[in-house]
Formats: sequence, C-alpha cells, structure tokens
Amino acid sequence: MLTQDELKAQVGQAALHYVVPGEIVGVGTGSTVNKFIEALAGMKDRIKGAVSSSVTSTERLRALGIPVFDANEVGELAVYIDGADEIDGQGNMIKGGGAALTREKIVAAQSRRFVCIADESKRVEVLGKFPLPVEVIPMAAQRLVRQFAALGGAARLRLKDGQPLVTDNGLHILDVTGLQIKNPLAFETEVSQWPGVLTVGVFAYQRAQVCLLGTAGGVKTLTY
Ligand code: 5RP
Repeated sequence: MLTQDELKAQVGQAALHYVVPGEIVGVGTGSTVNKFIEALAGMKDRIKGAVSSSVTSTERLRALGIPVFDANEVGELAVYIDGADEIDGQGNMIKGGGAALTREKIVAAQSRRFVCIADESKRVEVLGKFPLPVEVIPMAAQRLVRQFAALGGAARLRLKDGQPLVTDNGLHILDVTGLQIKNPLAFETEVSQWPGVLTVGVFAYQRAQVCLLGTAGGVKTLTY
C-alpha cells in the first residue's frame, strides 16, 4: 500500500511527460507540486525555466537551479502543472489550500493546458466538502462572511499563529464550509463579482484539461 506521499511523488514524476523541452513551464504550489519540482530538477537543462505561482515555489525552484521568470516577461505557456484540493468529473477544482490561489489562477490563465496532479483522495463528485478558499480585501471580510452565510456557507478568516494569514499579495483568506458547488462555472462567475473578492478558489474557467491521479493501482490519466 503506497503512502499519500508516495502517490504524490508518482504523479509529480508522471507530470514530466507534459513538460515541453526548450520551453518555460508554469508551476503551481503545494506538497504535490513540491514532488514535481524535485522531478523537474532532473530535466532542468532541457527547459528554459518556470513561471511560479508563489514565493514558496519560486524559492524551491531557484534552490534547485531552475530559472524563474516574471509572468510579464513571457507570453503564453504551453502547460501549467499544479495540484488541487478537490477535482470533479469535469476537471473543475477547488484550490487555495496553500493560499496561493490568485497567482495560481493567473498562471493557469496564461497557459494553454492545465495538468492537475493529485492523489485519489482529491477526486469528488461535487465540489465543496473541502473548505473553499477565497482571497479577500481585508475591509470587506465581514460583509463577505454575511454574503456566504446567505448562500448557506460558514466563512472563517484563515489564521496563522493567531493572526490573520497574509497572502503573497498582502491580503486575507476566508475558508468557507457548508457549500455544495453543483454549478462551478456559475458559482465562480457570481462570487468573483462580489466587491472585495480578489479570487475565489473555484477553478472552472481555468479547469484542468488533464488530471494525473495517483491511485493504489498506479497513475490514472483523466482527460476532460
Ligand atoms: C495551493 C493549492 C494546492 O495546489 C492545493 O492546496 C493542493 O495542495 P497539496 O498538493 O499540498 O495537497 O491550491 O494554493
């Protein structure tokens, strides 16, 4: 029986097949992506470098000798590789467990193809069991808590060491429980328009085209 860590390593390795030699690859954030970054170091001489979705991933990439480019210095990327907190049967995801959702969505939008790497615990029928991360402007937080309550969700400010967590963008995160997101595209459209929301962690517009799912029986490739 493989551990969750081993499943993550398997999909991190499998994602190398989607990296286009000679090009710049989009790199996500999280413990599964950390496995991918380790594997990517083995082919660093065959790629130009990476565009990263967080300060943490940037530091890891640079520590392994992989050049990191600013998103504004480069054009469209062939592929973006990232994990997910949940993924449904159409490639829609909840992301942001690592608080990097805004930059993740930006790099995903700049990429032709999103390859999601995840262990099988992330595969769900309906999004919403994992608390939905939403990056917000601090002065809007309590009003947004009330807006989520009207949808049946309980939103809580994410804390770190007893203080509101501050993202790479200097903002805060609300984690929303109690939602069942049956129409991810409509949900993302609506919540994205609420004043004070920077990014909602539903990735329907930027859904995955491929998911490499780590299972006890090996890596399953799901396409959408
Ligand atoms: C970070 C993310 C991550 O991709 C997501 O939280 C999955 O992380 P992990 O691979 O550690 O389970 O969205 O903001």
